[in-house]
Amino acid sequence: MSDKLTKKIKAKNILTGVIGLGYVGLPLAVKLAEADIDVLGIDVDEDKVKQLNQGSSYVLDVPDDELHKVVDSGKFSATTDYSRLSKCDAISICVPTPLRKTKDPDTTYIISVVDELVKYLTQDTLVILESTTYPGTTEELIQSRLEKELDYKVGEDLFLCFSPERVDPGNEEYDTQNTPKVIGGTTEKGLKLARELYGSFSEQIVPVSSTKVAETVKLLENTFRSVNIGLVNEMAMMCERMGIDVWEVIEAAATKPFGFMPFYPGPGIGGHCIPLDPMYLSWKAKTYDFYNKFIDLASDINGNMPRFTVHKIADILNDAEKPIKGSKILILGMAYKADIDDLRESPGLELYRLLENKGAIMDYHDPYAEKFDNRGETVHSIELTADNLTDYDCAVLATDHSNYDYAWIAENASLILDTRNAFNGIESENIYKLGAPLDKSAVVSPLFKQEE
Ligand SMILES: NC(=O)c1ccc[n+]([C@@H]2O[C@H](COP(=O)([O-])OP(=O)(O)OC[C@H]3O[C@@H](n4cnc5c(N)ncnc54)[C@H](O)[C@@H]3O)[C@@H](O)[C@H]2O)c1
Repeated sequence: MSDKLTKKIKAKNILTGVIGLGYVGLPLAVKLAEADIDVLGIDVDEDKVKQLNQGSSYVLDVPDDELHKVVDSGKFSATTDYSRLSKCDAISICVPTPLRKTKDPDTTYIISVVDELVKYLTQDTLVILESTTYPGTTEELIQSRLEKELDYKVGEDLFLCFSPERVDPGNEEYDTQNTPKVIGGTTEKGLKLARELYGSFSEQIVPVSSTKVAETVKLLENTFRSVNIGLVNEMAMMCERMGIDVWEVIEAAATKPFGFMPFYPGPGIGGHCIPLDPMYLSWKAKTYDFYNKFIDLASDINGNMPRFTVHKIADILNDAEKPIKGSKILILGMAYKADIDDLRESPGLELYRLLENKGAIMDYHDPYAEKFDNRGETVHSIELTADNLTDYDCAVLATDHSNYDYAWIAENASLILDTRNAFNGIESENIYKLGAPLDKSAVVSPLFKQEE
């Protein structure tokens, strides 16, 4: 059967369904459509579907004009109607994979997609899971149910692959097209079909021997980031204690042309990947009686950075003879990283809530994220004017958007905590840095003090 499908994919005579049109699914759908493949996007969110069909994008990496082109050419359309899956020859699944409150994987989104697949999937279809998840998901949650409930054999009647999405929102150099695409199939035939399909837009395909390997590749990549960020956050806390500027240390260490890769500290980690993905891996490893100590340690250190930052704010205000309670504090940059609008798991949100819990009067500004939900109430980004800025007891730069005018902020804010070294090079006594001492005198533990 797959020979027919191979021919159809080669001839681009197929309809590809992309399920979940968010940060991952929408760019993928648009790239496939730009490669002259008919794409049907499926999402449960009616507003998103409506907006997309009008050619209006809500993902910064997909400009309206790109979306408009594929909508106008008829190559892309979106729907909430799952029954239209029955017309698809290939299907990519890009739904969320969050954590439960207990930090266990929440695979309910994938499961609800499989509920629909078993209703509408037809024979000779290629299914590719893109959502980040633990090793074994493709076989355990998808293959087993499709085979059981559809009476189809994967590898003969249906083809199943895992291909992790590696998109880095806001990255101007690497996108879905030029970031190598790793693919693992449950069978050779499936892998061949997915290579053919994704080869239509991807400059480099990296085939691996199984879906489990492909699933683990993604988790290694993000665990690597989490552990290295955890290490550098620990260094930042240590440097503060020892009276050393961690930023200067990193800058100098990064001049080594081999064997060192700079990572930077911050007020915490955010987004839908780095804080979550390693937990998927360690959860699964535990079922093999294996305990990932690096993952837990990094998660602990990174998870405590917002609290460490609050301590630093308290110290800075203390120097100005002010308590946190009643102080007016402004968070600058609420998205979890620079130049994007994504607020998911953003440490800025946690800073906001921790400081509010301590009685601070909170506001925020973000050029990309106009509002957020704070315990059921909508909070709006303030207008950033010189008068406004001067009015705050402390401004906390949580995310270093590149369109901030740092010299102007330094001129107008009374006290600044810079958690990203964004004010580097701007001389002002009012700027304090996370990872650098409050004053130049290091505090030495009494245990090691020299006898006077
Ligand atoms: N955002 C990133 O930078 C990134 C990078 C790599 C991998 N990933 C992974 O990709 C997956 C998707 O992440 P995202 O950032 O695109 O999420 P997202 O929240 O931006 O988008 C998910 C979309 O799926 C839709 N959806 C939810 N349930 C659905 C269902 N049952 N049927 C159809 N649509 C449904 C939502 O309405 C939403 O539009 C996750 O597993 C994530 O870990 C994300």
